[in-house]
Amino acid sequence: MIIKVLGSAAGGGFPQWNCNCRNCADVRAGKPGLAARTQSSLAVSLNGREWVLLNASPDLRQQINTTPELGSRPDGPLRNSPIKAAVLTNADVDHISGLINLREMEPLAIYGSHRVLATLAANSIFNILSPSVVYRHELVLGRPTEIHAAEAALGLRVTAFDVPGKVALYLEDASQGPGLGTATGDTIGLEVADPETGKSFFYIPGCAAVDAGLAERIAGAALVFFDGTLYADDEMIVQGLLNKTGARMGHISISGDNGSIAAFRDLGVARKIYVHINNSNPVLDDRSAEHAAVAAAGWEVGYDGMEVRL
Ligand code: MLT
Ligand code: MN
Ligand code: ZN
Repeated sequence: MIIKVLGSAAGGGFPQWNCNCRNCADVRAGKPGLAARTQSSLAVSLNGREWVLLNASPDLRQQINTTPELGSRPDGPLRNSPIKAAVLTNADVDHISGLINLREMEPLAIYGSHRVLATLAANSIFNILSPSVVYRHELVLGRPTEIHAAEAALGLRVTAFDVPGKVALYLEDASQGPGLGTATGDTIGLEVADPETGKSFFYIPGCAAVDAGLAERIAGAALVFFDGTLYADDEMIVQGLLNKTGARMGHISISGDNGSIAAFRDLGVARKIYVHINNSNPVLDDRSAEHAAVAAAGWEVGYDGMEVRL
């Protein structure tokens, strides 16, 4: 299995277009230790020729153009794409709006929970992906699903599962109480498996907490890509960027008693990689104490173009 990190930043990317925070200013200035990052997405393939997107970032066009494997093949027909399917983990702008890049009558299969498919159905702009060639398939939570291109099975098996989280920002409904209208299926994690080899990894770019069920599921995993949005729960407030905690945004933080470093400490996960990293996060600076702390705890900080083979 070949896994590529197309985009390792959270919504807004790095630098964010309107942000003059320390990290954004430093990366714009070309300061050593910081690398620009596009918004959240992975691509996975068994054979290097047919690829499945895990989330479709608004930066997808740029990601395709900087990832030769994802471009049209020179020996293929006049119109062709190695991108055969897209699997969505929530309805965040950073995870679904990139679908609109895939609108040129190319066969494609889209997989998502009933909640995320309902959001696509409620936003008619997604009909630009013609239903005559682009099929939408529900991922039933807990049930392994074979991922198909329009023509054939791709050999990958995905199991979706609900994780603690929140409905997408633009769907929040304060009249629904503290849950803001969040329902099962709004935020899912994926286990992506190659049934031939039995190898698998987890992709969980948005997650509010590691509860007992999630801990049990990922214990002993070979590889987990995990929510690295914020280092500290209050960092957006402390930096004066936004008056919201990570908890309010549906994101666990990296540090702290309830953070992901602590939650994973005894789970025996062989390789742990942070993705969906917000531009406020100090781990984006390779020279920071926080980056060193993450590395000391056995975590890697994902970056665009990172490739992992299982
Ligand atoms: C998030 O992950 O919390 C969202 O991407 C935030 C946003 O939509 O700006
Ligand atoms: Mn997001
Ligand atoms: Zn910033």
